[in-house]
Amino acid sequence: MVIGDPVEHSLSPLMHNAGYKVLRIDDKYVYVACNVKTGKLEDFINGVRAMGIRGISCTIPHKIKVMKYLDEIDETANKIGAVNTIVNENGMLKGYNTDWIGIVIPFRKITSLKNKKVALLGAGGAARAAAYGVVKGGAKLTIYNRTIEKAQVLAKGFGASACSFEETKDIKTMDIIINATSTGLNPNIFDSPLDKELFTEKQIVFDIIYSPYETKFLKEAKQKGAKIIHGLEMFLQQGIAQFKLFTGLDVPEVQMRNILLKQILSD
Ligand code: ATR
Repeated sequence: MVIGDPVEHSLSPLMHNAGYKVLRIDDKYVYVACNVKTGKLEDFINGVRAMGIRGISCTIPHKIKVMKYLDEIDETANKIGAVNTIVNENGMLKGYNTDWIGIVIPFRKITSLKNKKVALLGAGGAARAAAYGVVKGGAKLTIYNRTIEKAQVLAKGFGASACSFEETKDIKTMDIIINATSTGLNPNIFDSPLDKELFTEKQIVFDIIYSPYETKFLKEAKQKGAKIIHGLEMFLQQGIAQFKLFTGLDVPEVQMRNILLKQILSD
């Protein structure tokens, strides 16, 4: 089950149910979306215990607030300060974070993060997972955020630097740029968080937004010759890791990517 508010456009049900079908465990598992208001979070968690629901995916705005209702938090999720996955082990609810895996695996397929200069745009929940992942990979991180104070707090926690969006010219010298702001998210598809003149052909540019499939930010980076990674890759990899926590099984990546891509392109 995925909980959020709003949650209606989540692609998690599509992905998990398709995985159950492919692995022929759809007689045992079913995955649904549930709109849970923040004020009802505690009641919801009690319901999970009462009904013995196996696993929960958490999205906006529950990733932080849900933590206080759980029995245990995995060490990584604790460091990130957010939970996107809850597993029910015989009534014991444990929180995990697979978002950072969704950031790191797509990079791992094309480059090493070690000693790379990374510009991270944003300082919210998604940015926290990205910061954890790239610093763990050995990158040198600078965090840019509209609200500089939030960038400073995050930077301090991960040994990174913080900047405001008024000081972006150094981004041109960075190896990797990651957008973890909500700028460019559907329906604001003509917005981008960054001036296109800051992209170069030497860079790898990753947007964690997966709707639209290719944001203005990614289109402009591509035009400047940068290598791009679509947000779909993050969604896919965090979901594959979550699927394994729920079922103990590996879901076929290529098949899952095709199913998600078809849906995103038809939206
Ligand atoms: P998520 O969990 O998806 O990361 P969030 O915690 O609400 O969501 O964080 C949203 C991020 O997008 C923040 O970094 C936010 O900047 P502020 O901290 O200044 O609010 C950023 N953001 C949202 N709208 C923005 C805009 N119009 N311009 C620049 N940054 C924006």
